[in-house]
Amino acid sequence: MDPIRNPYAPGAGQRPPELAGRDRELEQFEVTLERVAAGRPERSMVLSGLRGVGKTVLLNALRGQAVKRAWGTGKIEARPDQSIRIPVAQAVHAAVREVSHRHRDPDRVDAVAGVLKSFALRTGLADRKGMRWTPPVDVPATRGRADSGDLELDLVELFTDVASLAGDLGVGVALFVDEMQDITTPELGALCGAAHEISQQGAPLLIVGAGLPHLPTALAASKSYAERLFRYVSVDRLPREMADRAWQVPAAEEDVTFEQAALDLLYELTDGYPYFVQAFGKVTWDAAVGSPIRAADVTEAAPEAEAELAVGFFGARFDRATPAERDYMTAMADLSSADEPVATAEIASRLGRKPQSLSPARDGLIKKGLVYAAERGSVAFTVPHFGRFLRGRA
Ligand SMILES: Nc1ncnc2c1ncn2[C@@H]1O[C@H](COP(=O)(O)OP(=O)(O)O)[C@@H](O)[C@H]1O
Ligand SMILES: [Mg+2]
Repeated sequence: MDPIRNPYAPGAGQRPPELAGRDRELEQFEVTLERVAAGRPERSMVLSGLRGVGKTVLLNALRGQAVKRAWGTGKIEARPDQSIRIPVAQAVHAAVREVSHRHRDPDRVDAVAGVLKSFALRTGLADRKGMRWTPPVDVPATRGRADSGDLELDLVELFTDVASLAGDLGVGVALFVDEMQDITTPELGALCGAAHEISQQGAPLLIVGAGLPHLPTALAASKSYAERLFRYVSVDRLPREMADRAWQVPAAEEDVTFEQAALDLLYELTDGYPYFVQAFGKVTWDAAVGSPIRAADVTEAAPEAEAELAVGFFGARFDRATPAERDYMTAMADLSSADEPVATAEIASRLGRKPQSLSPARDGLIKKGLVYAAERGSVAFTVPHFGRFLRGRA
């Protein structure tokens, strides 16, 4: 059918035509926004799950809800080996801009801008490799506020002032942190500490995070009370009826329907993983002759979807790995037929190596976000169906 009318949207962070199966999280967040704006105690949300399950898209949708309520919002995408000070400063700057143009008292706005500037300019050792950034504001930096160099103290001061500015307008500030697992443990601890302090003050500021499945463990390791600070939401494959919605609702808008057998086959091929839902939906649409879309259309389109995933979704990641890391992943794939976690000791014995000698490969893969440390002493792929992809290559 007409590719121009094709509604499906495979791609990292691509907003799906129908955000299926996330109503509970969206409703929950409405309540959170309302409670926090009213100064009531509330836990923030942390989303975790494999790659391609829709964390970024959900995070953006939550941000959209905050924007609708006229909150100030900003977003950072954490990177390994990079301090969060500058990214946080930039996100806070974006949030402040959204509220300051409605604020009646320019002196208060300037005061907050001065604190933000002093926070941003106080880069330390951790930022040497990173960037420098001066907020584009006319006011001078406020000496002695948010510039001690202790990230937790500085965040508390910055967040307090920014939340209070938003509070003047009866709204709050929400900061969204994607790839949160890439923040170093000390900085993650500082961020949690600051969020904890702010919530105790009843100040309207929220940190909403998203990251790989081990993010809750990483948070707990950074601060013992992280569990009480956040509501952990696991983002996962769509159950059958939700996957059906993800295919049917956008198609219906173009007056296109699916035969039941086509949906059966699509679900079997995608397992309900949102990225695959979009990828298979897209090629199937293009291959179909007309409405209703039939199982034969899915069968015809499937190899193209597989090929596209092999290049874009799997291949792009595989290519980032060194030869030693590839061997490591191949061993993992051979040891786990359903992508379940694999004991590192088993990987070592399969490769005929000492476990310690494989640490660099393992750490490299974790840093590249291909693998995560699951339970103690075991690792798992961050990408669904990755083991199957590797076994298929062999
Ligand atoms: N709830 C959903 N329903 C249908 N498709 C979705 C849903 N969530 C995400 N997607 C699709 O899945 C793909 C991956 O989403 P993304 O947010 O980038 O995942 P993640 O951040 O977890 O890796 C995108 O193509 C997006 O359109
Ligand atoms: Mg993402």
